[in-house]
Amino acid sequence: MNQWTLVYEGFDPQQEGLREAMCTLGNGYFATRGAGPEAAADNIHYPGTYLSGGYNRLKTEIAGKSIENEDLVNMPNWLPLNFRIGSRNWFNLMAVDLISYRQELDLKEGILRRRFRFRDSQGRQTQVTCRRLVHMQNPHYGAQELTLTAENWSGPVEFCTALDGRVINAGVERYKQLNNNHLEPLATRMIDAEAIYLEVQTNQSKLRVSQAARTRVYQDGQLLEIERKLIEKPRYIAQHFNLDLKEGREVLIEKAMAMYTSRDRGISECGLAAQEALQRCVSFAALHESHTLAWEQLWRRFEIEFQSNDVSETDDEYITMVLHLYIFHLLQTTSMHTMDLDVGVPSRGWHGEAYRGHIFWDELFVFPFLNLRLHEITRALLQYRFRRLNEARFNARQYGYRGALYPWQSGSSGREESQKIHLNPRSRRWIPDNTYLQFHVNSAIAYNVYHYFQVTRDLEFLAFFGAEMMLEIARFWGSIATYNPSLERYEILGVMGPDEYHDRYPDREEPGLDNNAYTNLMAVWVLSRTLELFDLLPEDRSLELCKSLELQKAEMERWRDISHKMFVPFHDDGIISQFQGYEQLAEFDWDGYRKKYGDIQRLDRILEAEGDTPNRYKVSKQADVLMLFYLFSSEQLRELFEQLGYPFAYETIPKNIDYYLKRTSHGSTLSRVAHSWVLVRSDRAGSWQLFNQALASDIADIQGGTTPEGIHLGAMAGVVDLMQRAYTGVETRGNVLLFNPFLPKELGKLHLRIRYRCHSLEITLTPDKLRIEALEFPAGPIRIGVRGNVFELKRGETIEVSLA
Ligand code: BGC
Repeated sequence: MNQWTLVYEGFDPQQEGLREAMCTLGNGYFATRGAGPEAAADNIHYPGTYLSGGYNRLKTEIAGKSIENEDLVNMPNWLPLNFRIGSRNWFNLMAVDLISYRQELDLKEGILRRRFRFRDSQGRQTQVTCRRLVHMQNPHYGAQELTLTAENWSGPVEFCTALDGRVINAGVERYKQLNNNHLEPLATRMIDAEAIYLEVQTNQSKLRVSQAARTRVYQDGQLLEIERKLIEKPRYIAQHFNLDLKEGREVLIEKAMAMYTSRDRGISECGLAAQEALQRCVSFAALHESHTLAWEQLWRRFEIEFQSNDVSETDDEYITMVLHLYIFHLLQTTSMHTMDLDVGVPSRGWHGEAYRGHIFWDELFVFPFLNLRLHEITRALLQYRFRRLNEARFNARQYGYRGALYPWQSGSSGREESQKIHLNPRSRRWIPDNTYLQFHVNSAIAYNVYHYFQVTRDLEFLAFFGAEMMLEIARFWGSIATYNPSLERYEILGVMGPDEYHDRYPDREEPGLDNNAYTNLMAVWVLSRTLELFDLLPEDRSLELCKSLELQKAEMERWRDISHKMFVPFHDDGIISQFQGYEQLAEFDWDGYRKKYGDIQRLDRILEAEGDTPNRYKVSKQADVLMLFYLFSSEQLRELFEQLGYPFAYETIPKNIDYYLKRTSHGSTLSRVAHSWVLVRSDRAGSWQLFNQALASDIADIQGGTTPEGIHLGAMAGVVDLMQRAYTGVETRGNVLLFNPFLPKELGKLHLRIRYRCHSLEITLTPDKLRIEALEFPAGPIRIGVRGNVFELKRGETIEVSLA
């Protein structure tokens, strides 16, 4: 291992699912799991290929009900490239004696490599090396190379290269009872002697997908002309060919693939486009060159460097490698190519089938990192939400509210995609899923619009897209809030906060909780910021919006009123109650359950299987109240509380953190990111420990089996963002770029490059100095605030501030 390489030594069937997820290659347009080219889906391997936003809906009869799910479809497998040496059986890792095995993911170049040697039952020793890429510059290409060396034998070898559309969605055990056959055949044919073609279509969304693949064989650098046999079956096409290999000689097989869909733009027809692209593709070497150049350019924008300090035991190389790995997966999910697509941020990447490729609120953890690096991606992702504004309006109306309510889970059209019932794998019971009540997702979207604007001051975006989303979201909060005369305050009743362990009161029939503090305060924040941004709009645009949205002064007055009189529940002298009545819940026997179950991250499943429910206890799956401290600085929170007329003392922050941290099981990978963040300033050691646990989320699959089903993108981006924003204390507020640095004692130096309002800034932070260099960019001066002092920074200038 080094900073740029993830290495796996030896083959471990138990680990293979995890490795496939971690070695997924993608480019924002499609992604392919890191399964070997010989692997078919079985209980060890799962070679999935997914198109960004490639969804399809299917109905299933379950527990007496017909339920419909929208899935991220497992698309035809373009990988198959296998061989058999003088036998009937195709090569299978499990059936040979492996002499050595090493798999490497090169993060700098975006190349997956595999090298192994094996001995078969006849004593023949063979060496195989593979390389694979999913092209970062031209998103339609994928390519593989396989070299086979006969070490101590001579004889015939048969090869098979295929495009296999007979795949189903079977990547998640819990979903196996649901219908999962999404593809129907359209065409298979030979393009020419070297190339084959497959076309399929999703059976409900009617997305046509075309793959064209060319396989070439080389020996001693010479292209071989070989005879091939064509095999065609519905949704499957392959070529078989034979070679005679001499002892000590090697043969190189190259497979290039081009994929287009009926959703692509700038083409006549996807089948034609795939075939033309394949013809224009020269070689693996040529693809490799342009691919690594694209990665080099990405890394220049996204790199984060840090050094631990002399005395700490921090393993710089390991941490840097994992940070690179997480940035790598982020950029394979949302890349430059996202800008031309209509997709959101899938909580599990395009790396597997967990959560069906749906879009949740996780973008709240992803956008800040992207905003300060390549906000063009964030803009495109916000457009995904804008295009679904009408559906969100419809959703709000369904519940009897005005404005827009974005769904908790979003897919193709932006309708609510949350499951109606979900399976508890522990009890095997199907239970009602009330997570759709997490209306707070609405505020996350408004928060993202606002912060995109703070970083870019992109008034065009705000005027034409952002403002309308914010106004409609504000209108929703304005309509759901009800006035309680006895409290003389507004309330929000019957919702869920981010903590999914609580979906109802133990003694109430209907789901939902009252006055979730996070939801209420976020609503206040959204209403206030919307009113503020509205005043920034060019007058003609605000008039247009008022007319088309029938927005009147009185309604905005009501928003202002709510934003000053929202109810926030408290208990125990300054503890913000997660929701009204929280203090009446029972304390939980944490030690007893830890002793009994060991891993209690998913307490909801454990308790349900016992016939109990987390609703009865003071337990949280993840940060809920504490999300407020994650999203807002203490000054911002003080402003919010003062606006509402609640006393706010800084001392209550550590008290609240301590209170909820003790009562949280971290059943979501997002939780440790938020908790590490909120501890940065009050408990450096505790924060660093949580940082390291959050860092381990995916690489070590700390939830014990969820990463093979898909990465946790929010946690990945959130961890990187801890380095970027939590330790530098960077904040984009008003027209000032604020820094309030706070390095953990383990870190000696942090270096990063961020973009802010058309400037490119090199930031170097050490415990005693902050250095900010504005590169030569054609942009006017900006204002930089460091711990209360404000400086003007012009292009080409550098400021250094002592932190001693
Ligand atoms: C978490 C949610 C998150 C979702 C998708 C759930 O386990 O509780 O907060 O949005 O996973 O990542």
